[in-house]
Amino acid sequence: MTALPQASAGSDIQAARVLHIPEERLDSAQAKILSIADYRGEREALDAVVVEPYSPVVGAHVRGLDFAASAPERDAALAQFLHDRLVRYGFLFFAPGTVQAEDFGRLVSLFGKARYAGTPYTPAPAENTNVNTIDSSVKKTRMNLIWHIDQAFVPEPPRFTALFGKAAPPTGGDTLFANATAAYDLLDPDFARYLETLTAVHDVETQGFLTLAYQDPGALAAQRAKYPPIEAPVIRVHPDTGRKQIFVSELYTQRILGVPRTVSDHLLQILFDYVKSPDVQTRVAWQEGAAVIWDNRVVQHRGVADYGDGLRVLHRAIVQ
Ligand code: SIN
Repeated sequence: MTALPQASAGSDIQAARVLHIPEERLDSAQAKILSIADYRGEREALDAVVVEPYSPVVGAHVRGLDFAASAPERDAALAQFLHDRLVRYGFLFFAPGTVQAEDFGRLVSLFGKARYAGTPYTPAPAENTNVNTIDSSVKKTRMNLIWHIDQAFVPEPPRFTALFGKAAPPTGGDTLFANATAAYDLLDPDFARYLETLTAVHDVETQGFLTLAYQDPGALAAQRAKYPPIEAPVIRVHPDTGRKQIFVSELYTQRILGVPRTVSDHLLQILFDYVKSPDVQTRVAWQEGAAVIWDNRVVQHRGVADYGDGLRVLHRAIVQ
């Protein structure tokens, strides 16, 4: 066997191994580190109601809200306090015992008017006709397992979405939440500036949502007619915070306009990867009676299917 030639000290191979990155470029050559102060605040209280961070970049706990003994939905100052924290933190988490299933609508009404947004596999529960049910025991589509903003395929997606834990599996079945402003903040500034020139097409059928949800051909055709594809900027400015965010999602974004298909596919994959970064996410582990409401304009979410045949039932409310 002939021995391979060894690289000598002055060869190209050696030179490549000792490539130097100047110290001033060490930062831009690597993944960014988020400035946590940009996303979370200090513990705050309004009377007995306390809000404090849930995770570094998204979410807050709300404690001390008492639906059993009072009517917080009639307290305008409280509603404003919670609304402002919801927009600031991206979601609010309410521990079990804050509301019962029949009071979930009252909790949601602090933030706006709920409207029904179910499909044949996700109907309204007996307790409330304005919400729909995601029930693991019902034959269903699995679109909730793909990262998305609810109804990102309409010109004005719902402002908020809320979930209530009606039944929780012993382990698993969490919901993941990602802050798309933090995902934007991870981008290289030159790349972000280019992305800001682009628009994308959002289509409810990108992953076959309607095809899977509607067996009846007439109902399917009616739904498709109701939701034609729309265009939106790839980088969007949040209407309340004025902050930039990545506005594409794996479930509903079909393509980026004005670039070849290959470029569109690769750009979208990069942006999906930023939203999926653990650096911008947290997860909510479901317990019976827990509730979450999030700012659907900027927080993406998905469920996790790691609970086997455990029963997982969530009530979902959409707030326009
Ligand atoms: C949803 O997509 O609205 C529900 C997410 C989940 O199943 O956790």
